[in-house]
Amino acid sequence: MENMLHLTPSHASSIPDGFVLPAGHLRPATAAGVVSLPVVDMSSGRDEVRRAILDAGKEHGFFQVINHGVPEQVLRDMEAVCHEFFQLPAPDKAELYSEDKSKPNRLFSGSSYETLGERYWRDCLRLVYPLPGGDTRDWPHKPQRLREVVGNYAVLARGLATEILRLLCEGMGLRPDYFVGDISGGRVAVDINHYPPCPNPSRTLGLPPHCDRDLITILLPGAVPGLEVAYKGEWIKVQPVPNSFVVNFGLQLEVVTNGMLKSVEHRAATNSAAARMSVATFIVPADDCVIGPAEEFVGEGNPPCYRTLRFGDFKRMHNVVNLGSSLNQITNLKNNQEEV
Ligand code: OGA
Ligand code: NI
Repeated sequence: MENMLHLTPSHASSIPDGFVLPAGHLRPATAAGVVSLPVVDMSSGRDEVRRAILDAGKEHGFFQVINHGVPEQVLRDMEAVCHEFFQLPAPDKAELYSEDKSKPNRLFSGSSYETLGERYWRDCLRLVYPLPGGDTRDWPHKPQRLREVVGNYAVLARGLATEILRLLCEGMGLRPDYFVGDISGGRVAVDINHYPPCPNPSRTLGLPPHCDRDLITILLPGAVPGLEVAYKGEWIKVQPVPNSFVVNFGLQLEVVTNGMLKSVEHRAATNSAAARMSVATFIVPADDCVIGPAEEFVGEGNPPCYRTLRFGDFKRMHNVVNLGSSLNQITNLKNNQEEV
């Protein structure tokens, strides 16, 4: 529990050694505003939305959605309750704290990846919404409304993900229910990220460069900027659009589409002025689900570029984030799979 950053006022003046990353790992982002992520208005006509999502997905692997159907009040409640949770007195949070990665629901600090010793400026409350029942009895009981608010949010975020997956299927010529079932039905994992103000943002990161290992991720980015996305060899800063979600493809979507859609690296920067909160909702396949390139993406002149693997085995192979100095060194999926 003493690892939790937000409980440690001594961090106000300098960052402890473990957080200082080698300069080569900290290439700064391009000046804000040079490239912005596409914004897809989901209230446009279906053909237009389908096209916009596919174009944005192919170009960036990341996009923002507005008019997505999740009520504004749900977002405000979610932000408020997450904030209240991190403000609770330490003893109320202590029993949730755990470094045991096999625990579905836990409070922890640093990264969720094996990072070979490097530490990251993030506290995280991870809650798993089990499917199909959604039994949230093991979730925190304080703040009192947390289970209701986060449970409701998880269902709506999952609904949005399902809709986007269906639009992608239509756009790519897959049967519309391709992603229904085990491939999206393992669990919904909700990471409530809290990045406290950092005295030296140029020397550390909130999250290391990584690709999400799931199928698709719906991020509530919060009002404070921090997310940075790899684009053409640079890092670009994502300027949050009010009431939007950031959507990005997980590695499983890259595998299914045989690389037509890419799971793109991203990282979280810190800042010294304000704490930042974000909520990442991951749509995770069942461990036993066998995932490989769909036959629609393989054929003469189009050999499979990825192995077909049980998702549980895939995860074991991608546990280590080995920070490289170049942008795409660390999660090169094809190379990783060759080593197995
Ligand atoms: C994540 C993630 C980005 C952010 O949780 O996987 O990439 O902006 N979060 O917090
Ligand atoms: Ni991520």
